[in-house]
Amino acid sequence: MAPIAQLRGVALAYGEGAGRTRILENCDLSIERGEFVALLGPSGVGKSTLLRVLMGLAPPSAGEALVDIPDRPGRRRMALVFQDAKLLPWRRVAGNVAFGLEGLGLARREIEARVAAALDLVGLSPQARRYPHQLSGGQRQRVGLARALAVEPDLLLMDEPFGALDAITRADLQDELLRLREATHKSILFVTHDIDEAIYLADRVIVLAGAPARVQGTFETPTAPRKRADPRSWGLAEEIRAALECVSEIVDFEI
Ligand SMILES: Nc1ncnc2c1ncn2[C@@H]1O[C@H](COP(=O)(O)OP(=O)(O)OP(=O)(O)O)[C@@H](O)[C@H]1O
Ligand SMILES: [Mg+2]
Repeated sequence: MAPIAQLRGVALAYGEGAGRTRILENCDLSIERGEFVALLGPSGVGKSTLLRVLMGLAPPSAGEALVDIPDRPGRRRMALVFQDAKLLPWRRVAGNVAFGLEGLGLARREIEARVAAALDLVGLSPQARRYPHQLSGGQRQRVGLARALAVEPDLLLMDEPFGALDAITRADLQDELLRLREATHKSILFVTHDIDEAIYLADRVIVLAGAPARVQGTFETPTAPRKRADPRSWGLAEEIRAALECVSEIVDFEI
């Protein structure tokens, strides 16, 4: 079966003329159906840009993004979870989750049922009538996740969704995401700059580094279930660190 999404030879630059900066160069990657892939790279390398290319929001200057998901009524093919949830402050939790469903041509009853199911999945049903300012940071991220799940996407794109959370909340949400993944079998591309998070969550870790950024390596993680600080992953974390670091040495050398 074809991968659910792929990038082939993607290049992208921002700006024009002398202000032109090359961000991505010759990027290849693929996500298989049902696979959980982590995209790992330092801040500013181009991870969010790569997600925008996959979503068709940023046209590449070379190469192509291929997404093999059928259009189905009442659903979206892909959904994105942001680092800072991006909730509408004047809408209640349920209204925020419903937001992604508006424009899909669903009956009001269907919208209510989908919102309730998504809130249940992330454990937020009791908070459905609260406003975003009445939630903790972790709860706000859960709303962002529920909003993405409500549109029943085949591919879930997550852009450093737990980056702003404290360590305990972050660990809770990581485990919740793994449970959700078991329950829904979604294909997931999860962006992070945290090596341990990438190894704990993903089946495969793709390292993006360099300026312009390229895929520096792809690493299979030990078979699930994995533990945090799993002894089976120690060598792997070192290999991934080396893939991230060998690039900065090359960049230093060029400077
Ligand atoms: N619209 C834009 N116009 C010009 N430059 C941009 C634009 N968006 C992003 N950039 C630049 O492109 C580079 C990659 O940005 P991007 O947001 O993709 O990085 P990132 O890997 O997601 O970083 P972070 O981990 O901090 O979120 C950065 O240097 C950024 O300043
Ligand atoms: Mg980003």
